[in-house]
Amino acid sequence: MESAGEEDAEALAEICKRAFETDVDVGAPGEPGGPPGYDMAEAQLRLMNYLDYYKILLNDWIVGGVLVSSSGEQHRVLERIFVDPDLFRKGIGSRAMELAHALYPEAKLWTLGTPEWNVRTKAFYKKLGYVQVGWDLADPQWRGIWYERVVDSSDPYAMMDIGDLKDGMKNVDVEGEILEKSVARQVRSRRRRWETLVVANAGLGDETGRIVLVLWNDQVKQVKVGDRIRIENGYVSSYMGVNQLNVGRAGRLIILL
Ligand SMILES: CC(C)(COP(=O)(O)OP(=O)(O)OC[C@H]1O[C@@H](n2cnc3c(N)ncnc32)[C@H](O)[C@@H]1OP(=O)(O)O)[C@@H](O)C(=O)NCCC(=O)NCCS
Repeated sequence: MESAGEEDAEALAEICKRAFETDVDVGAPGEPGGPPGYDMAEAQLRLMNYLDYYKILLNDWIVGGVLVSSSGEQHRVLERIFVDPDLFRKGIGSRAMELAHALYPEAKLWTLGTPEWNVRTKAFYKKLGYVQVGWDLADPQWRGIWYERVVDSSDPYAMMDIGDLKDGMKNVDVEGEILEKSVARQVRSRRRRWETLVVANAGLGDETGRIVLVLWNDQVKQVKVGDRIRIENGYVSSYMGVNQLNVGRAGRLIILL
């Protein structure tokens, strides 16, 4: 496995397209498809700009890809893996995952998501030691299972304490309980061509403190008072002098089991 470059984008897009289009055989609803841009070389190039994008090589031929992002050195997110369907079930995906894990010796926690309908990936990740910790409901079409793999159970990854969160912090991983939720209100986004958005504030607490969690659109309905949730790769900002935790585009809101 090696870092992918611009010259690999075309080949990766072609394999990625064929790989994801087999998802209809393992439970995907609707027509063959994949994640946004899954079949486009330009999209692979964009992903290379903000994720660690590796090509899986077999006898010097590209046979798949692995995409890893980070919300901090000790916590890595497996964003995507795909293997050439002509070579499925030969152990290539598992070997690539092992190599990816080994590339990040500092990582204490790995997380990833997969749709509930995907019987193939559920078996694949389970075999690699991933266990479900919650649900990622960001896609309105299906529930996403959120998995984690603790590298060494005697030295687990420590989530941040809510009481320690400060304005400007990034890569924030916290767990807590939804203590309260405001009534949702509509706002118009100047940045998004005056689109109407729905926003609500929730109180998120752990034993060290509490913070305002900002919920947008579908997120408002995803959480209810009493839920235990995790925010991965969120950020803290200050609004009218009050610190608030934001999920952001790169972050995730996970409803814990
Ligand atoms: C998921 C994927 C990467 C697996 O690659 P692979 O090289 O075929 O995987 P492996 O041969 O290492 O399989 C390891 C284990 O996964 C499970 N698995 C793989 N394919 C499976 C299937 N079709 N049905 C059930 N279990 C399956 C099995 O437990 C398998 O072990 P076994 O063959 O000893 O029973 C590949 O199927 C793929 O590219 N899928 C399309 C894209 C995708 O869904 N990517 C993940 C989401 S980002």
